[in-house]
Amino acid sequence: MDNQIYLDLIEKAKYARVNAYAPYSNYKVGAALLCSDGSIYKGANIENSAYSETVCAERVAFYNAISKEGDRRDFKAIAIVGGKGTKISDFAFPCGACRQVMSEFCSEKFEIILYNGNDIEVYALKDLLPNVFSAKNIK
Ligand code: THU
Repeated sequence: MDNQIYLDLIEKAKYARVNAYAPYSNYKVGAALLCSDGSIYKGANIENSAYSETVCAERVAFYNAISKEGDRRDFKAIAIVGGKGTKISDFAFPCGACRQVMSEFCSEKFEIILYNGNDIEVYALKDLLPNVFSAKNIK
């Protein structure tokens, strides 16, 4: 994908991150999910005093898209930014649960775009989640 598309999506992820609710970890994550028609759905992490009820930014973005548009499976890429406080400090790799949710709705070529404040790294979903458990297993 074009570098400008990566940069635009990262900007949207930064914008989404402003709404992160992370009073416990202070680790704020923003995600921007790109669909094939160019629409973008955003998400930020939402924590809870009962820690396990926390939801990651990536899953919020997916559930935002699916709850608005139904079961669409034309997702192209997601940009993720994260870090403590207001700073984007490191490459915020998606957690295992988020990778699994991505695999439910995305192809192996789905791109995961990470930005640490300086550099961009791009990964294919198949490389971050090889040998995935999927609907095929339970048919
Ligand atoms: N977090 C995400 O939003 N996405 C991930 O993929 C990993 C972790 C959030 C959850 C929690 O609010 C904070 O980062 C620290 O774990």
